[in-house]
Amino acid sequence: MNGQIEALLREEDPGRLENLWRRADEVRRAQVGDEVHLRGLVELSNHCQRSCTYCGLRAPNRCLERYRLSAAEVLACASQAVRLGYGTLVIQAGEDPGIEARWLTEVIRAVKAITPLAITLSLGEREDAELREWRSAGADRYLLRFETSNPELYRRIHPSRPGRLSDRVAILGRLRDMGYAIGSGVMVGIPGQSYADLARDIELFAELDLDMIGVGPYLAHPDTPLANDPGLADGVQVPASESMTCKTVALARLVCPRANIPATTALATIDGRSGRELGLRRGANVWMPNLTPQCYRALYQIYPAKAGVRDEAETHHGQLMAVLARLGRSPGRGRGDAALAVQPSSEQVEHDHGSTRAAGGYRWYVQ
Ligand code: 5AD
Repeated sequence: MNGQIEALLREEDPGRLENLWRRADEVRRAQVGDEVHLRGLVELSNHCQRSCTYCGLRAPNRCLERYRLSAAEVLACASQAVRLGYGTLVIQAGEDPGIEARWLTEVIRAVKAITPLAITLSLGEREDAELREWRSAGADRYLLRFETSNPELYRRIHPSRPGRLSDRVAILGRLRDMGYAIGSGVMVGIPGQSYADLARDIELFAELDLDMIGVGPYLAHPDTPLANDPGLADGVQVPASESMTCKTVALARLVCPRANIPATTALATIDGRSGRELGLRRGANVWMPNLTPQCYRALYQIYPAKAGVRDEAETHHGQLMAVLARLGRSPGRGRGDAALAVQPSSEQVEHDHGSTRAAGGYRWYVQ
């Protein structure tokens, strides 16, 4: 399968690309339907103890003013999510030990007590005991991108803490055992990422049987060491383009047909207004509107010129509803949990997708 995925990543023939987009859209509709789940994003803190070479929040970046929201501010975001009809609150932050486990436990309990929202956490590599405590308090899902499946590249871009080897795939397994729905993903076009690496990343999505997959283009941040890295030779290096990101979204849909896949802010950032729309037409079924209070938005600068930094939640909401209407899609109702796998009859699979096969225990729709 790896060879076929790599060939599709390298595909440039417009007709064959149209085929890929169409198949991803068909599988999306057949497997997760026309609803687009809306997840309100709260950027809880931009403090970070790590030194990832691609990320603007990295600890050594002294050009950034740091902030952390109060519990009251998070609860206000949760109320707004309910008012706007969203089913999930995504609480994201840098890897910030200043977010105390007990404090967040109380916040999770409070959100759960006053709203019907599902809670997704995205807080980096925390202690198992903390992850377990938050799960018991009511957190439903956890997002932790493995960033790249190439161990050597991973070590280069995501230095471990002293004496503690970073193994995000192992953490994802433990999160699943704790009862979280798990999400992961990668950046597309990170300097040093080859086509073979990205093809392997996509295979790993299927092997991990992810409930959620987030992918976006790499965007260079001037205050990071990776900003001036030219990457691999032409023809080997994956470009950080809109088209390559869409190919990755489409292939993620084909290898994980029932996953929840967002049209990410990073995709919107490289392609203005139509980035999200493209993602939604090429396999994605989730939109994560930003609910972070306006005064902090610009400070959550993972990469520069992030889309939607100035949009008020209500304005953004109006725009997203217009996009959904244009695409003939409807806003999701309820929490938007990952759809349980339904094994289609082999006859139906043959009929719908001619070339569908089971490989390595998972179903895939790549030709
Ligand atoms: N460009 C694009 N995406 C980035 N991320 C971090 N830095 C960048 C960047 N410069 C992504 C990582 C991280 C997620 C929260 O944002 O994949 O997991």
